[in-house]
Amino acid sequence: MASINDGIVASYKQLVSDLQTHNHYYHVLDDPRITDGEYDGLMRQLLLVEKQYPQLIKEDSPSKRIGGAPLPEFTQVKHMVPMLSLDNAFGIKALRDFDRRVHERLQGSENVSYLCEPKLDGVAVSLIYEDGILVRAATRGDGAIGEDVTSNVKTIKSLPLKLISDPPPRLIEVRGEIYMTRQGFEGLNVFVNNRGEKPFVNPRNAAAGSLRQLDSRITARRPLSFCAYSVEQYTDSGSPDTQHGMMRYVGQLGFRTNPDIFFAADIDACERYCNDLLTRRALLAYDIDGVVIKVNDLEKQKVLGFLSRSPRWAIARKFPAEEAFSQLLSVDFQVGRTGAVTPVARLSPVFVGGVTISSASLHNPDEITRLDLHLGDTVVVRRAGDVIPQVVRVIHERRQKNSSEVLFPKFCPVCDAPILNNTSEVVARCSGSLSCAAQVKQVIKHFASRSAMNINGLGERLVDQLVDSGCVTSIVDLYDLSLPMLIPLARLADKSARNLLSAIENSKKTTLQKFLYALGIFFDQYLDNS
Ligand code: IVH
Repeated sequence: MASINDGIVASYKQLVSDLQTHNHYYHVLDDPRITDGEYDGLMRQLLLVEKQYPQLIKEDSPSKRIGGAPLPEFTQVKHMVPMLSLDNAFGIKALRDFDRRVHERLQGSENVSYLCEPKLDGVAVSLIYEDGILVRAATRGDGAIGEDVTSNVKTIKSLPLKLISDPPPRLIEVRGEIYMTRQGFEGLNVFVNNRGEKPFVNPRNAAAGSLRQLDSRITARRPLSFCAYSVEQYTDSGSPDTQHGMMRYVGQLGFRTNPDIFFAADIDACERYCNDLLTRRALLAYDIDGVVIKVNDLEKQKVLGFLSRSPRWAIARKFPAEEAFSQLLSVDFQVGRTGAVTPVARLSPVFVGGVTISSASLHNPDEITRLDLHLGDTVVVRRAGDVIPQVVRVIHERRQKNSSEVLFPKFCPVCDAPILNNTSEVVARCSGSLSCAAQVKQVIKHFASRSAMNINGLGERLVDQLVDSGCVTSIVDLYDLSLPMLIPLARLADKSARNLLSAIENSKKTTLQKFLYALGIFFDQYLDNS
């Protein structure tokens, strides 16, 4: 270890504090004061100093945001205060019933005001700060015991590793939601797709999957955000006496709180807020599934207390899934790796739930029968908790006369082999097996994907070209490819062709596990034929 002097310590502390300040400006206040390049420059300086003087590194160092060595497993932690759930109100009547129950329990208080917050659709976490330093982050788990995800949570830039407060509280537990914005989610899925991996179903799953990585360096690369919504333990005197005050205080400590928080003087104001948020829902930067309404006065919260799994002083006013009208333009029948034929509805583009939908999977023949689809039908499209859109129903009254019914094909649209409807499963399958170009393409795409043989450069378009040109008819052919075969293929430069050949060669050095996965053997097919 290099010897250290006061000057080095002082300049290191300055670097840490500058990085913390600029991180706060950028990620919490949305008000950057320096460019990304300048920030990266400061971070590089910090890493250099820490490499030379590792004895300087503390738990709140901004370098912890990059992630650390992978963990063998998550350790379990017992929550000091159980992490409860919320009771749901699905309509206005249920919301009014909640308000009535609150008034009944708080006999004598005519005025009960509430704090309304968008209900973020993400993952709940508990953060414990001792003397201002984040010492433990845990998931909710079963409410009593969660998982220690401290090193992962440290990579999330919108939460402080060190509180901005002098002196900081001795102990404070802040809870909130880790979530992904719609933009972050869509960007991540483009990235995941390009690597040949399976895209995430919705921002909540993406947030949960990203948080539960044993390798926190992976979490660090995921676009996660944090928003605080409650304080459970606070050891210093003089704490705020309302939920609203608590949120302001938490903001002063350096947390991001929801800018859409709303103080409601009574339940009527809560209802107006819910209706307003419902109309703005699609325009929000993140998914919400409702509004959380909390009694604002913390003393009243105490009096109201808890039921077994949820507090009596709060309720989640749930929103219905987002729906819109669209028109069925056509239905494509896509053939997958195992021959499964999936009908996909092509729809006139419609904006629902913050994204434009122009197609939706119809899953299987039964779904087409259930919907009774005709071409040109007006359909209701939903984007529920899932980003994957869904055709909910047909508006039969708007059906055009003489419109043709959507029929499931009897023969594969790609290879013309019969499509089989095995009674033991809901999917229909093309019987063409490896003589079906669509199946071959999917088999090869799966084989080359990152989690299988990881053949860099063998993307979707190239696989299509290789199969369509007849150069490749099975995975075995990949290993006989040569430069003269590859070069004539459009859009493939000499260098990329060479890189691809070496990636194919390198793929031979793999694990048995990955190889077996890459083969993607579909057992049902073999059992059926036996
Ligand atoms: S307060 C006693 N506030 O909703 C539980 N929760 O359905 C107090 N959630 O596990 C939770 N946004 O993950 C609260 N503004 C918000 C929230 C919120 C999302 C989640 C949270 C909780 C779940 C309960």
